This record gives sequence, C-alpha cells and structure tokens, in this order.
Amino acid sequence: MSAPLSSPSERENSLSIEVLALSPADELAATALAEALALPLCQIGTDPGDYVAAQVLLICSEEEIALQQTGRSAPGPITVEFGNAAMRHRRRGGHNELLGKAVGLSRKSGIAVLDATAGLGRDSFILADLGCTVCLCERNNLVFQMLASGLGKAANSSDEWLRAVVQRMSLFSGDARELIESQLHAAEVIYLDPMFPERGKRAKVKKEMALFHQLLGAGEDSDELLVWALQQDVARVVVKRPPKAPQLAGRKPSHVIAGKAVRYDVYVLRGL
Ligand SMILES: C[S@@+](CC[C@H](N)C(=O)[O-])C[C@H]1O[C@@H](n2cnc3c(N)ncnc32)[C@H](O)[C@@H]1O
Repeated sequence: MSAPLSSPSERENSLSIEVLALSPADELAATALAEALALPLCQIGTDPGDYVAAQVLLICSEEEIALQQTGRSAPGPITVEFGNAAMRHRRRGGHNELLGKAVGLSRKSGIAVLDATAGLGRDSFILADLGCTVCLCERNNLVFQMLASGLGKAANSSDEWLRAVVQRMSLFSGDARELIESQLHAAEVIYLDPMFPERGKRAKVKKEMALFHQLLGAGEDSDELLVWALQQDVARVVVKRPPKAPQLAGRKPSHVIAGKAVRYDVYVLRGL
C-alpha cells in the first residue's frame, strides 16, 4: 500500500514565514520567490532581530536565499553554500569515504545516484565530488528553492572545481516516488537520508535541525520511502541513519557501514 504523499506546503504553514528582499535591487527576485511559495513579503529594511510578525524570514539577495529565524537570540542564517570552508573541509573527512563506500564506489566509479531526499544537497554534493552523477529530488518547495539557488550560485562560480562538481548534479522538484520512468531509469543507487530526531551535541546543529523539524516534520513516511526504493530497478539502496536508530521499515540491510556519528544501511539488490 502506498502512503499518502505529504504536502510540504501544509508543513510550511505551521511556521509563520515571510520573504524579505535584502535591498531594493533584490525586490524582483524576492517577489518571484514569495509568489512561488505563496508567502507574504515583508518590508525592505526589516531587521530579523526585532521582527515579531513572523518566526522565520527567507532573505533573498543577489547572492543567495538565506533562512533566518527572527528574534534577538536566533541562530545565524541557514544557506546552501557548496563552496564554503565547511564543505571544503568536509570533502577531506572520513565521512566521505564511508558514504562513497556505501554507494559502491570501491566497486565502480561514476555511479549514477538518485538522492531521493536531497534536503540542502550536502550529501549529494559530496557524492558528485566523488565522481557520481547525482539526480537530486526534493519535495519541500522552500527547501527546493534554497537548493536551486545554491546550485545556481555554484554553477556560476569562478571556481572551476565547484562548477565541475555541480555539473554532475541535476535537481528535480517533487516527491521522489512520483519521478517519471525516464528520470528514474538511469539511477544505479537510491540514496535516502530521511529526517530523524536530532540528538547532536553541538548547539548549532541542534538549532538548525529544530527549525528543519518544524518545517519538514520528523520523516513520518520514511518507512514507505524505503519500501518504494527497494522496489525500483537499482543495484542498491543506501539509507543514512543515526548510529543507534532502528532500521527503516524493520528491513534488515545486506550490510552496514558504521561511522561515529552516522550509519549507512546498505541494501544490495544486484551487482553494480
Ligand atoms: C534530512 S534531509 C536530507 C539532508 C541531505 N541529505 C543533505 O545532505 O542536506 C531530508 C529531506 O528529504 C526531503 N524528503 C523527504 N521525503 C521525500 C520524498 N519522498 N521525496 C522527495 N524529498 C523528500 C525532505 O523534504 C527533506 O528536505
């Protein structure tokens, strides 16, 4: 039985969100974004620290779209920034090796991955940096817009490495289970990183995740997503989980690649 596909806009409505143009030059882009997301625009010059009419502002500038909670004690903005120091640092981390191993890069290079839960695209970017071609699918319209803007920014960057990596990434809007055959058929691996209750120790991570949980929910249909993925004609399905979380849908993986902070459950369906 397939699960009813949740409506991202319903979730967005549970938080009050407005769109802010950073400067008059950004007004056109902000208006288009507000229309695309059916969100109200707030006045140019609004200070997120003082604003009380909305809980979250989507701040639209020539550079990027930033998600900013309002209020004096709010954490800093969330952006999609593939070329920043954190991403550059992350590409050298052991986590990447585990992710690469989980999708099967020790067996084959240039694997075609469908990231069915794209989010802010960080895992996809790492996979693309490791040489995979990645089809990203994101069903939440607000997250999709942030991701599209981050990919656009990277594609126009003066950094050759960044441009080359994002060239291997293509973005689709909507629920992965509704992708059409032609979008699905090239995928050799389906990658899933559904939302899960965050128990990260670092306060910054906690605050970012808390906002995303409010925005997106806690991944109530993750089990159905795995069941769907396992029915597709792919070589493997990889699920990212917290180290001690139960397996999705109670389905035992073929093997597990465990790191300190995450675990990858690997379901091998055929050879790569
Ligand atoms: C935990 S986040 C993924 C984070 C991502 N791996 C990253 O590195 O930034 C999960 C995302 O998957 C999206 N999502 C969940 N189920 C989906 C589905 N069936 N189709 C498309 N997107 C989905 C959610 O909207 C959310 O943005």
